[in-house]
Amino acid sequence: MMTQTIPKPPDGISTSLVTARGLTKSFGEGNARISVLKGVDLDVFMGEVLLLVGPSGSGKTTLLSVIAGILDADEGELSILEQSITNFSAAAKTQFRRDYLSFVFQQYNLLPTLTAAENAAVPLFIRGVPKKMALETAAEILAELGMGERLQSLPSKLSGGEQQRVAIARALVGDPRLLLCDEPTASLDGETGHKVVEQLQHIGKRSNRAVIIVTHDSRIFEFGDRIVHMEDGQIDQVQHVNGEPT
Ligand SMILES: Nc1ncnc2c1ncn2[C@@H]1O[C@H](COP(=O)(O)OP(=O)(O)OP(=O)(O)O)[C@@H](O)[C@H]1O
Ligand SMILES: [Mg+2]
Repeated sequence: MMTQTIPKPPDGISTSLVTARGLTKSFGEGNARISVLKGVDLDVFMGEVLLLVGPSGSGKTTLLSVIAGILDADEGELSILEQSITNFSAAAKTQFRRDYLSFVFQQYNLLPTLTAAENAAVPLFIRGVPKKMALETAAEILAELGMGERLQSLPSKLSGGEQQRVAIARALVGDPRLLLCDEPTASLDGETGHKVVEQLQHIGKRSNRAVIIVTHDSRIFEFGDRIVHMEDGQIDQVQHVNGEPT
């Protein structure tokens, strides 16, 4: 039987940005029903980069989607920035997501008719930032990710790793309080992956922000503050990086 422990915050960090208690989620009906989240308890503290690892199918993407308000949990409580998301209407969730969260999807989800710079600028367009300013901000972030020569390219003309960097730039451009990343370095070589993780850390290290990274990539484990292990829809171990499991 797996134990569910509520972890202590890493040294110097005390306030919870995400608090999840008893989250459950199933898909399908009747005999085809599968239980994917089986009572997840998790705290994500301000100023931390949390890595979420676990086997394929263990529920990592589902958990990120519930935290992002893209999927509704069946049961449990979720609060983010001291707001009880569980009780929000669909419209309120959308607004909250737009104002405070960014999500880097495992499948990138770029808009095929927009250039790299336009794709990365979408969150700023939605907030009403003037087009020129939005594109300049997006271009700066893309350049930091080694994409300065690809600003005008459509996604179909970009490699997988380049598309991934556009998706990451789009998540960074709005300076989110909570950044959720699903396998953000899966298509990147070591050096580019390193650059990306440094950008993600910039956000996570700020005292009122946090980053959750789902990853199989052991090259980036050293960049996290804690590693949370997910197994069969539950969190079964939390490890402080360079420390003992709790
Ligand atoms: N919309 C859905 N309908 C039915 N089943 C789903 C749906 N989304 C996910 N599942 C199932 O839920 C389980 C967990 O999926 P999830 O995508 O959360 O896993 P994961 O840990 O992210 O895996 P991976 O490492 O392969 O990305 C899988 O068995 C998957 O088939
Ligand atoms: Mg996944």
